[in-house]
Amino acid sequence: MFNDESFFKKYGMNYVKGTLYTVFLAFVGVFAGAFLGGLLALMKLSKNKLAKGIALVYIEYVRGTPLLVQIFLVYFGSTALNLNINALAAGCIALTLNSGAYVAEIIRAGINAVNKGQLEAARSLGMTQTEAMRLVVLPQAIKNILPALGNEFVTVIKESSVVSVIGVSELMFQAGVVQGASFKPFLPIVLVSIIYFILTFTLSRLIGIAERSMNTDDRN
Ligand code: ARG
Repeated sequence: MFNDESFFKKYGMNYVKGTLYTVFLAFVGVFAGAFLGGLLALMKLSKNKLAKGIALVYIEYVRGTPLLVQIFLVYFGSTALNLNINALAAGCIALTLNSGAYVAEIIRAGINAVNKGQLEAARSLGMTQTEAMRLVVLPQAIKNILPALGNEFVTVIKESSVVSVIGVSELMFQAGVVQGASFKPFLPIVLVSIIYFILTFTLSRLIGIAERSMNTDDRN
């Protein structure tokens, strides 16, 4: 399988390019998704019925439909609306819209996990609701949210492979290119799986280190 020495020379660049695209897609998806998720979480926790309703429907809809379908929705939807966006932009948008819904739940759960007494104590000290949230609840919630956001990053790296269906030249797409060009069906996929694994494994180790250094237990 590995006897063809020129394989890496010939197709190495495909993997480099694919990795860069994959990392780019995941970065955009997670960071833009975190903003969208923050907004959705605020909407869902707000007292405004309309905002709450919109966030609820959006989150349920996105989490209840496959990413594959959402990617096609964005890609063909943009064409139907005469917006000329390329596949890469469509992929970034689809991943952002998808990740936003998951991040919203991460943030909401992170905030809800902070003991109710914390808010009550802050309020009884005379803080306004906003002050209590900003100064007491959110700093504690961050400790629940950040590690979960890191895991979301790992998920989006993997899920970005689905974007290959609209022709974004990320890792999975490049694997298809190399398969076709080299007439080898197996090796390109093995290599791609190793690259994905290196990316996600490194990232989850870094998350582990960050998590430990944050010392998530305040009781001691
Ligand atoms: N693979 C599943 C889907 O197609 C889950 C997507 C998870 N996405 C995320 N950003 N956590 O819907």
